[in-house]
Formats: sequence, structure tokens, C-alpha cells
Amino acid sequence: MLSPDGEVHINHKFTAPYHSWGVADIALECQLVLVGLHDFKIEHYPGYKNKRGSGSRCDKPFPLGDCRTFIFKLRPVTAIFLKMESRKLHAPPIHPDLSLDRASEMLASAEIAVPRREFIGNCRRIKHYSSGRGDFSFSTCLAKAFGCASNMIATSLDSQRFLLLNYASALPNLMELKARKCKVMHDIDATVITSHSIPGEMKFDRIVFNFPFAGFFDDLPRDSQLIRHKGLVSKFMQNAVEMMGENGEIHIRNKTTDYFEEWNLEVFGWLHRLRLVETVDFDRLDYPGYDTKYGFGGDGNFNCYPSKTYKFAR
Ligand SMILES: C[S@@+](CC[C@H](N)C(=O)[O-])C[C@H]1O[C@@H](n2cnc3c(N)ncnc32)[C@H](O)[C@@H]1O
Repeated sequence: MLSPDGEVHINHKFTAPYHSWGVADIALECQLVLVGLHDFKIEHYPGYKNKRGSGSRCDKPFPLGDCRTFIFKLRPVTAIFLKMESRKLHAPPIHPDLSLDRASEMLASAEIAVPRREFIGNCRRIKHYSSGRGDFSFSTCLAKAFGCASNMIATSLDSQRFLLLNYASALPNLMELKARKCKVMHDIDATVITSHSIPGEMKFDRIVFNFPFAGFFDDLPRDSQLIRHKGLVSKFMQNAVEMMGENGEIHIRNKTTDYFEEWNLEVFGWLHRLRLVETVDFDRLDYPGYDTKYGFGGDGNFNCYPSKTYKFAR
């Protein structure tokens, strides 16, 4: 029933337990993406009376409290198109379109549209920095688990524009992160991040890079490709060491098939005077909502099994 530029608005409570219904996730299953999240004020609708709608008190109002209008639109066509493309799509076409403008506007104003108070009580005091986000689904999962993510910084090498055009879940994930007070930064190169004034001068308890991958270099010989991937890991670790707090740890997730085992992550730990605390089998299901993305355009997920988390500390 929705016209191509049409919107679906759902007015919904934003307090527990309603905010955990996952309205945006359900919408995604119906090819709808969240493009707005506004305060809902009943006084904006003169004459409207909210009713319980069922039971013996069906004609009585229910307490509204903190409510939001969730605004959804059909998934941008570019995202659907790119999803069907092969993972070798290095430079996806970027089509400026209205929904992108709208999405960018929403992200710019997201911080004022979200509640503070309900998350504060759940704040865990851990400073977390995660780099190299595909569609930011991993950071979003962490932020939801922490409740409040004001101690977390999530960065991507990609620009915000690139993410919105390439990953259908980027917008709802970024909105969720902002709502939970996570600092999100784009165009951040993890190999030179210490030169950046914000994350570069901070100390973190956990620094995470999931499935680092320097890119698809199909024209290069295998050894040259390996050198690029290893270079990314090594330079990331070199930077991360400087950003570790006293009891900080660096966590890198990597596949353990032959090609990736050849990266020898242990050696990089040794190079940067870190000890390998442990390696733990990685199970994506431990991180609800996390989608492992190829990166570099397209919206495809890669098979992350088998893989391990390598934990390094001083
Ligand atoms: C295989 S993807 C994994 C994406 C995401 N971490 C996930 O698990 O879905 C590799 C990611 O590494 C990122 N990357 C590559 N070089 C980088 C760099 N120099 N700094 C930060 N990120 C980088 C890419 O942008 C890409 O998103």
C-alpha cells in the first residue's frame, strides 16, 4: 500500500519494556528503514484520545510517558541493488537522493530526539573503542547490552554518506548509537588514529577491531595481498597500544582458515610488546543483531566461521 516515497509512522512508547520490542528491526524485515525518530506529544493532535482498546477498561486512556514517532520509508533502491551485487564491488555508484538527505538530517538531529535519563542507571563504566565498522551493527549490539554507550567511541573508515548508501541497517544502527550517547566518527583511519585529537588522546579499557581486512586486491599476487592485510593489523595495533588504559586490552577477531591463520596475529602482539592473553572461539550469536559485513560497499554478509577473538594486553 505504500507509494515509493511514502512513510509509515508508528507512535510507540520509548520506555521499558516497549523500547526493546525492536520496532526498527522488525521493520527491516519488511524492507522498511528508520528515517526519523521524533518526540510524540499528544497535544500536537487536538481531540485525539489514546485508548486502552481492549478489556473492560477499553474506553479509558493509558499513561503515555515518553513516546516516539518512528518514521519508516521503503529501503533505498540503491541498497537493494547493491545487496545483489557481488562482493567485488569496490566503488559502488553513489546516487544523491532525497532519502539520503533525509537520513543525514535525521542523524544530525538524533541527539536531541533521544532520552537521557532511562539509560543513565544502567551505565557500565567501561571505556570502549571499536574500529572498522561495517554497518555499525556490532557497536549497536554492544551499546544495547551496556544500556548507555557514553563511554564508547565507534569509528568507520567509510564516510557517513557511503554507509547510508550501502548498508540498509546503517541508519537505524547509527540512530540507536546516538540515542545511547555513543560517540560515532567517520573517515577515521585506524592505522593513524593516534594523530586524531579525539580518540587519539584518550585511553580505553577495550579496543576492538572485528575482522580487519584491507580491501579486495584481486589483481595483486597473493603475497602482496597478505602484506596489505598484515600491514593494516600491525599499524592498527601500533596505534591501539598507545590508546590502551592501564588494564586495557586489544581484541581482534579474525577467521582461522588457512589464509587468515597466515596473518600470524600472535607475531604482531610480540612486535608491539603485547602478550596474547587468550584466544576464544567467536560465536556471532553471542552478539545479537551483529552482521559481519564484507565492507567496501555492497551489503553482503560474509561467513565468519571459524574465527577467534585474539585478546592482547601489556
Ligand atoms: C571485512 S570488513 C569487516 C567490517 C566489520 N568490522 C564487521 O565485522 O562487519 C573490514 C573492514 O575493515 C575496514 N578497514 C579497512 N582498512 C581500514 C583502516 N585503515 N582503518 C579503519 N578501518 C579499516 C573496512 O572499512 C571494512 O569495513
